[in-house]
Amino acid sequence: MARITFCATPLSSLIIAQPLISSVLMPDAQSPAPEANHAWQELCALDDVPPGAGLYVPHEDWDLAVLRSSDDAVFVLHNRCPHAGGSLSSGWMKDGCVVCPWHTWAFDLTTGACPEAPQFKVQTFPARVCAGRVEAQLIRPNTANRAD
Ligand code: FES
Repeated sequence: MARITFCATPLSSLIIAQPLISSVLMPDAQSPAPEANHAWQELCALDDVPPGAGLYVPHEDWDLAVLRSSDDAVFVLHNRCPHAGGSLSSGWMKDGCVVCPWHTWAFDLTTGACPEAPQFKVQTFPARVCAGRVEAQLIRPNTANRAD
């Protein structure tokens, strides 16, 4: 299921929003409990990300890749490739995936799954553009195992 999200600003200032991951939209009994960090966090200006390219965005303790498609859809993923640590922000987009520049593994821009090997997955985040700024909800997948 995909859904478009918008922030509370005039429509003229909105560009496009990334489809949300269904598990975020429809939490069930197995989903982690909601956290305080579900707030939208500003990452960069949309103009900082050229159409069809990515931008590395270190944000607090996150290493993020912000990717902008040629039709201005925006996606936010963890920057490190789960194969060997390539920078996904330096990759390219093809067929709804970001392709890692090191060994060309592809990861779905919305689910983070590798179509060729679904057991390999990169974390994705709900993203939107609000008043020309890229924002994301930086949700930790399993806070019970983290030592923050
Ligand atoms: S490091 Fe990304 S494909 Fe190898």
